[in-house]
Amino acid sequence: MDQIRVTGGKALRGEVKISGSKNATLPIMTAALLAEKPVTLTNTPLLQDVRTMAAVLQALGAKVILKDRSVIIDPTDFSRAEIPYDVVRKMRASVYVLGPMLARLGQARVSLPGGCAIGPRPIDLHIKGLRALGADLQLKHGYIEANARKGLRGAEMWLEGPSGSSVGATCNVMMAAVMAKGTTVIHAAAREPEVCDTAEFLKSLGARIEGAGSSTITIEGVDRLDGGKYRVVADRIEAGTYLVAGAMTGGDVKVCDCRPDHLETVLEKLAEVGAEISVDETTIHVRGGNLSHPIAIRTLPYPGFPTDMQAQFTSMLSVVPGTSTVTETIYPDRFIHVAELNRMGANIHAHAGVATIHGVKSLSAAPVMASDLRASAALVLAGLIAKGTTHVLRVYHIDRGYESIEKKLSALGAQIERVSSRQ
Ligand code: UD1
Repeated sequence: MDQIRVTGGKALRGEVKISGSKNATLPIMTAALLAEKPVTLTNTPLLQDVRTMAAVLQALGAKVILKDRSVIIDPTDFSRAEIPYDVVRKMRASVYVLGPMLARLGQARVSLPGGCAIGPRPIDLHIKGLRALGADLQLKHGYIEANARKGLRGAEMWLEGPSGSSVGATCNVMMAAVMAKGTTVIHAAAREPEVCDTAEFLKSLGARIEGAGSSTITIEGVDRLDGGKYRVVADRIEAGTYLVAGAMTGGDVKVCDCRPDHLETVLEKLAEVGAEISVDETTIHVRGGNLSHPIAIRTLPYPGFPTDMQAQFTSMLSVVPGTSTVTETIYPDRFIHVAELNRMGANIHAHAGVATIHGVKSLSAAPVMASDLRASAALVLAGLIAKGTTHVLRVYHIDRGYESIEKKLSALGAQIERVSSRQ
């Protein structure tokens, strides 16, 4: 297994290009199953999760070609309706195939995903939405067995969970509804940019969707969707991670090819800590001279502060003087990075969904690992400012969501390398 070794102390300087969004690419790849003709996606990130999703689509009969930063999907032979546990276990986003399978095949057998390192992750809202469209879903032997042999019908539904909207359920139901008979109205829909990008992609194939980006999405069913070409939106979480890296190292970094409008709350919080931020249409410039103000963060559905940026901010705030707080409302157990940061000298206490962070003067390097993508990234960030060389183990978590993180950070001047465990 590879590890990343990072020696702290370098202020990052220069420009970094942001890749296409992982969390938009995954639902868009499954949405391509709805098309009648081949689809070409461009600006797709070179990531393990994208390769895993390609394997899922292939297992269902679709042809998939991964070529540099594009994915070509020919769904003509999409005919198999089962996703086994082994696949869903690797990547929860495999449940996205449920909607397209019901729409195209009228049936689906998909393993139920379990919890994961960031806590329990139910899919009751996916099930509720698909049932509202007329599908029959039963849970049997760890699988969801679904059928809609008489076809899906448009319906009005509220997809609200205890912590608000659900990105996955909104995408899944939207995909199922685009070819249902009649009109579907999703209330309490997730407003995340990845939902909008999935809707834009579906519209480019001929779907009729209005309101994506607001909390009410209306979908008029159509008989068929065409093929086409679509460019995936920039990854706001990757962009946010490099902004934090620039700020916390006291650097001067231009984050290019991104969507500043998708990062408003993140930019507000960076400015509140003391980073200097300027933006133009596709670039964010961060300078982190004096991070001296403790802050309070509360993760919320978009446009609130993203849970996927929480670990990286916790890392940064561990060396900001005073006491900061991070309240995690989406995944209250998502604090596995805290124990590792404390091993590096941070002073953080996490309890009942709230991390209280007492800023320390510096961190010191240690061997660390985390079993979650963003938590692992947070540890790499901590390594950038720690005294000595931090070894971040289980890098495959980072590879699921960050394209060549060590290359991008190294081009900004970080002292960082990937080492295969055989060395
Ligand atoms: C997506 C992102 C993930 C991000 C999360 C929240 C992808 C592939 N993953 O995950 O990176 O952290 O959004 O922004 O895009 N919930 C229910 N019932 C459900 C579904 C969700 O109660 O049926 C709850 C979840 O437990 C959580 C909240 O709703 O508390 C939000 O989850 P959701 O938006 O569905 O997350 P994902 O789509 O799984």
